[in-house]
Amino acid sequence: MITPEQPILINLPKIEDARGNLSFIEEFAHVPFKIERTFWIYDVPGGAVRGGHAYRTTHEFIVALSGSFDVVVSDGSKTQKFLLNRSYYGLFVPKLFWRHMENFSTNSFALVLTDQPYRESDYIRDWSIYSKIRSGNA
Ligand code: TYD
Repeated sequence: MITPEQPILINLPKIEDARGNLSFIEEFAHVPFKIERTFWIYDVPGGAVRGGHAYRTTHEFIVALSGSFDVVVSDGSKTQKFLLNRSYYGLFVPKLFWRHMENFSTNSFALVLTDQPYRESDYIRDWSIYSKIRSGNA
């Protein structure tokens, strides 16, 4: 699976069944990386915004396992908004894309898969530093 260079929605398998549907994610088959870490965001109060940073090297795949929210991604100049509201697709966000998540519905549940362990040093939390890196001035 080729690693996309842009944020992209990826459809996941959906096994429909009268007893309830089932979806799944396998590394390299449905996400273009080896899964090193999983975390999830839940109990988000109304109006809260998560994210607001980029990663130097980490790729992410975000799924709305329950409810809905928007993921806003930017490459420093162009901004795109993706609505995640089904558990059978997710958003791949490559490294070096600024992102935040907003408009969380009540009881929404965001599952995030990444290709790296947590390292604060991989975060870029300052937009001006991010802009300089993106424009080649850092
Ligand atoms: P952060 O990624 O800044 O949250 P968000 O981008 O959703 O607003 O993480 C919030 C805090 O949690 C921060 O102190 C780092 C910590 N954290 C970990 O310890 N491990 C992890 O895997 C993640 C994602 C965060």
